[in-house]
Amino acid sequence: PPVEQPPAELLGFKAVSVSSADQIVVPEGYSHAVIIPWGTPISGALPAFSLASTGEDQADQVGNHHDGMHFYPIDGSSTDGLLVLNHEYIEPRFMHLSAAGQSLGSGGVPAFDAQVGRPVDEVLKEINAHGVSIVRIAKAQDGSWEVVQSPFNRRITGLTRMELTGPVRGSDFVKTLYSPQGTATRGTLNNCGSGPTPWGTYMAAEENWAGYFRNGATETNPAPREHARYGVPSANGRYGWELAADGSDRFVRFDASENGASAETDYRNEPNCFGWMVEIDPFDPDSTPKKRTALGRFGHEGVVFAPVTEGQPVVCYSGDDSRFEYIYKFVSAGTYNAATADGSLLDEGTLYVARFNEDGTGTWLPLVYGENGLHEDNGFYSQADVLVNTRTAADFLGATPMDRPEWGAVDPANGDVYFTLTNNSRRTEEQVNAANPRAANLHGHIIRWAEQDANHAATSFEWDIFLKGGDSGESGVATNIGYDPKGDRLDADNVLSSPDGLWIDPDSRVWIQMDSGATDPFGNCAMLVADPNTGTVKRFLVGPISNEITGITMTPDQRTLFINVQHPGSGTSGAEFAAGNYVSRWPDFDDSLPPRSSTVVIWKDDGGVVGS
Ligand code: FEO
Ligand code: CA
Ligand code: CA
Ligand code: CA
Repeated sequence: PPVEQPPAELLGFKAVSVSSADQIVVPEGYSHAVIIPWGTPISGALPAFSLASTGEDQADQVGNHHDGMHFYPIDGSSTDGLLVLNHEYIEPRFMHLSAAGQSLGSGGVPAFDAQVGRPVDEVLKEINAHGVSIVRIAKAQDGSWEVVQSPFNRRITGLTRMELTGPVRGSDFVKTLYSPQGTATRGTLNNCGSGPTPWGTYMAAEENWAGYFRNGATETNPAPREHARYGVPSANGRYGWELAADGSDRFVRFDASENGASAETDYRNEPNCFGWMVEIDPFDPDSTPKKRTALGRFGHEGVVFAPVTEGQPVVCYSGDDSRFEYIYKFVSAGTYNAATADGSLLDEGTLYVARFNEDGTGTWLPLVYGENGLHEDNGFYSQADVLVNTRTAADFLGATPMDRPEWGAVDPANGDVYFTLTNNSRRTEEQVNAANPRAANLHGHIIRWAEQDANHAATSFEWDIFLKGGDSGESGVATNIGYDPKGDRLDADNVLSSPDGLWIDPDSRVWIQMDSGATDPFGNCAMLVADPNTGTVKRFLVGPISNEITGITMTPDQRTLFINVQHPGSGTSGAEFAAGNYVSRWPDFDDSLPPRSSTVVIWKDDGGVVGS
């Protein structure tokens, strides 16, 4: 229904302009500071950061390529808490002294003697730069945020022991030489987005894990679908960890080719131990992280929980960020009770995949063994099979292939669920559908839905498109009143491409983070804020050169905002790298140091709510 009076505007700041400078830009009246860059010592013997830091040092230092993040207050404080953040991946050339002078592009590893293998300490350092950091931080008297030495400080890495829980635990799919019972594995990798649970723990997503492995399958002995459908390569893994010179089990496991008598004697199943959501209790430093298999196996971008209600199931949403992949939700079998709720709620329940119908309605399709054809006749033999092969099962049910589902968020005011669809250059005119309306979708969009009767456990919903990226032409933004596809175009205050990180604050401001390679006319990757009531969108922050903005969390009083700057300077070409001409030197601006992924703290100079 039309509203008689426009709602009050949520966004009180003046939009910042696009920027191509090697710096952070925030609105007038705001300030920022950089904390915990890659290599900051947080635990153990507190090894000082340098490019000469060893693989063991790295296990006590903040990891690389900061991504999803959440602030866990200590006793409700807004000045003291645990900052928990993911480290998605690495740029080996920026990590090793041995890379100097070589022509290495983004992702390249320093040259090594193929007869000997990759230097063991380089491989160890790279694996230990992955995972999650738990860092206690506090606001000092002078207003700055400092790392606090604390027993909570912890690094979780690509080598940390993890438990497998849920229906896949103990199944034949996850038996390995490391865990012949199929109950455990080592490490978490490519942790992109994250999400806090309603009971105070942290979920880290495993996104582009497939490329870390290899399966040297042959035509006569092809890779199983649980490898092939996810893109496990037949050549070397992305950093060649399986080529480590010492041939030790912790590195050789990245070669998932069959090379033993059975699954219990080799690592053919190692990739099946990845692609999950990992639960970590930041307040229990001795706890073993748990891979919650009931939430499905895919390229998890992140997770967002719906608000919980006593006596109702717990519901969470997760996107699979790859071209033409799907959006999922999990509904727990058990119900929420504030006094007893814990991660075991995530071990039993129903995983659904979304179908977005052309008429603006949608359906959640259950991924349940034995139902809707997910049985032996169609190649599915157990619930573990359905979950290990989540993508294949979702294909079978006819889910809607999306333009790379990234982060989700829930509007606390009305329960609307928002998901970013970052881009999809490969969608053809024939593949266009109402929910993914643009062929060669370079700039992405944000889809939104309301579950039937505002019940997050419902199996049907109504959806619309909240925002289309781009500079003009087809760009646009909707409001809560209803989408007008000919409505407001994006303009100088808010032009954006490739929305990725997404968060809705307690006042319903929609924070949108860019991960875009397109700089003209968008400038460096930025963070914008939308008011879903009025449709206003304003650019709040711009990052340094060749970065993406990701990760977002606030203190409970909303006076301090934390975001991450990931991979600054990643566009440095091989020739520029060899010559020492990095396109960014943020944040150190020291010619002896590479650019470093870091967390940025932002506050309003008058002490007000950030974004107000
Ligand atoms: Fe790791 Fe989909 O961004
Ligand atoms: Ca992302
Ligand atoms: Ca992205
Ligand atoms: Ca990224």
